[in-house]
Amino acid sequence: MMIQVRLIVNHLITGLLFFATVAVAAENTYVGSTVCRGCHPDVWMNFNKNPHFKSIAAGDLPKAQTGCEGCHGPGKNHVEARGGKTSIGAFSLMDARHATDTCLTCHTKDLSRGNIRRSSHTMAEVACNNCHSIHKAAGNGKSLLAKRQADLCYGCHANIRALFSMPSKHRVNEGFMQCTDCHNPHGTAAPTWRAGIRPRMVDQALANEEPCLKCHSDKRGPFAFEHASVRVEGCETCHNPHGSMNKKMLRRPTIMTVCLECHNGTGNFGIQSSGIRTQTGTHNMADPRYQNCTTCHVRIHGSNSDPTFLK
Ligand code: HEC
Ligand code: HEC
Ligand code: HEC
Ligand code: HEC
Ligand code: HEC
Ligand code: HEC
Ligand code: HEC
Ligand code: HEC
Ligand code: HEC
Ligand code: HEC
Repeated sequence: MMIQVRLIVNHLITGLLFFATVAVAAENTYVGSTVCRGCHPDVWMNFNKNPHFKSIAAGDLPKAQTGCEGCHGPGKNHVEARGGKTSIGAFSLMDARHATDTCLTCHTKDLSRGNIRRSSHTMAEVACNNCHSIHKAAGNGKSLLAKRQADLCYGCHANIRALFSMPSKHRVNEGFMQCTDCHNPHGTAAPTWRAGIRPRMVDQALANEEPCLKCHSDKRGPFAFEHASVRVEGCETCHNPHGSMNKKMLRRPTIMTVCLECHNGTGNFGIQSSGIRTQTGTHNMADPRYQNCTTCHVRIHGSNSDPTFLK
């Protein structure tokens, strides 16, 4: 008897509250994440392991930005409609720009909005959720990537895979290195090398250097005698950064052809503006010994003791 009365009273209160809400707030509002659990148990179940769970638990964000609704937007209309794709922020219906904007409402602290906007990925309509999967991240879920990193990138850049299988290469396919050791898929600022052109989303290391110098620190300098091309044009003038059929990942099959591309005295480049200097007459180019320039010019990346990089 007692219980029955309670139930009736409860129903009355719920009913009153329901009508009150409808009367007061006709527009879509936030309802909180727990409401989602009943109809989306699969998504909800794993969510406590998601880094975004923190934003629910910690309560350190404005109310409108917590939990499921932080990304999917206010859920009231959706719940009242008992589901539907158009009643809520469904990524399956969003264009790239809208999806990117949604993520950037929070992620401009760790990522630069400016770099993302002008990155080749954003320009080509590649959005955050093409690479990240919030609910079905691969592997150990590091950075919520949709797939293991190399597979993710090869999914759209199939031509790059072959380069990393060439005889001279960086060991990315072997899992020893990653694309993001050199690239920032979120875009980069204009670099200081190569006259700041065509950044190719190549990341910058300390002091805006090429990322290569993080690992190949012996090439960093500064050297008393710099080889201008290393400092100005950058490593990829002579090397293919991914891999190559040629030894030491050089762009050309023999060392001589790498050098003579610039050291041919033509044009108005070089320190004297009369073309980049050619080798002197002492060089007997018919002698195979002279064709392998770096047997003598051993400090080709810069030297502290010899202006012609002999030591
Ligand atoms: C950090 C942003 C974010 C948060 C927080 C988030 N989602 Fe999602 N949700 C997405 C994205 C992006 C997709 C599109 C599919 C994908 O990338 O995994 C998605 C897809 C979905 C889908 C479609 C089914 C599917 O698995 O693809 C449902 C349902 C869903 N989310 C419900 C929820 C619920 C419920 C919560 C809270 C427990 C939640 N989402 C929290 C971003 C988010
Ligand atoms: C009464 C049940 C119910 C509740 C409560 C509910 N949903 Fe849904 N939701 C659905 C149904 C059913 C669909 C499937 C619509 C379809 O596939 O056509 C759906 C679809 C979605 C989608 C679209 C997925 C896509 O295809 O991109 C998202 C996002 C979503 N729900 C998020 C939420 C969030 C966030 C909450 C909590 C605020 C929530 N839902 C509460 C029933 C519900
Ligand atoms: C409501 C704010 C909010 C929104 C919107 C949001 N995030 Fe997050 N995101 C967070 C917070 C908070 C963390 C946890 C950061 C931490 O642990 O330091 C996080 C963590 C992440 C991480 C993991 C970082 C790591 O170190 O592993 C990724 C990846 C990520 N978010 C991607 C996205 C994507 C993609 C979207 C859009 C679909 C998105 N986020 C939308 C707040 C948000
Ligand atoms: C082209 C693929 C790609 C796109 C597009 C992309 N990301 Fe990432 N993101 C990655 C990869 C790969 C990592 C892992 C980096 C690492 O492990 O060093 C990452 C890492 C992150 C992290 C972890 C912190 C960090 O800086 O490493 C966050 C947060 C993140 N991404 C958010 C976003 C958001 C938000 C967007 C959309 C504006 C986005 N990402 C777009 C591939 C992408
Ligand atoms: C050792 C550093 C390094 C690694 C690792 C690396 N890249 Fe690159 N990548 C570069 C540099 C430097 C350039 C610019 C080359 C140029 O401008 O000539 C570049 C250019 C590119 C380009 C544009 C030019 C082209 O060749 O099509 C794509 C796409 C690319 N990389 C994808 C990837 C992918 C995918 C991975 C991982 C599987 C990866 N890179 C790993 C350094 C690297
Ligand atoms: C969803 C498809 C997709 C994925 C996944 C993807 N990319 Fe791209 N990427 C593109 C498109 C489209 C472009 C622009 C067109 C082009 O230059 O090929 C691009 C361009 C690039 C460029 C060339 C930039 C330039 O300025 O020329 C690099 C470097 C690159 N991506 C690296 C990566 C890396 C590293 C990953 C993995 C973390 C990755 N991409 C994942 C689609 C993708
Ligand atoms: C994350 C560390 C790392 C970064 C970043 C890196 N490298 Fe390497 N590089 C290595 C390692 C390690 C080797 C030795 C080969 C191996 O073990 O895979 C190597 C080898 C080389 C070789 C010699 C290849 C051979 O066949 O002997 C060249 C040339 C080279 N790297 C150039 C570059 C250039 C140019 C860049 C920047 C675009 C770069 N590296 C960025 C780690 C790195
Ligand atoms: C002017 C052309 C040129 C430029 C620019 C250049 N290199 Fe090299 N590099 C060479 C040549 C030639 C060799 C082969 C030397 C040999 O085998 O005797 C080489 C060899 C290497 C090697 C393998 C042998 C060693 O010395 O460790 C690495 C690593 C390397 N370069 C890294 C770099 C990095 C990093 C940059 C950018 C800071 C760079 N290179 C810029 C021409 C160049
Ligand atoms: C991208 C163009 C470029 C490439 C490739 C290049 N160099 Fe240079 N090198 C220069 C420039 C510019 C200077 C500065 C001297 C000048 O302006 O004449 C220079 C200077 C030199 C000097 C010092 C000359 C002097 O003025 O004392 C030597 C020696 C040299 N290079 C050898 C080589 C060798 C050997 C190779 C091949 C492994 C090579 N260079 C590849 C552009 C290049
Ligand atoms: C047998 C050793 C040896 C080889 C191999 C060699 N050089 Fe030299 N190179 C020297 C010496 C010694 C000097 C400095 C004395 C001189 O000017 O003859 C020099 C000087 C130079 C200079 C500076 C010229 C100037 O005006 O100051 C250039 C440029 C140069 N070499 C380029 C090359 C190129 C390119 C190759 C490969 C085709 C090459 N060298 C192969 C020994 C060598």
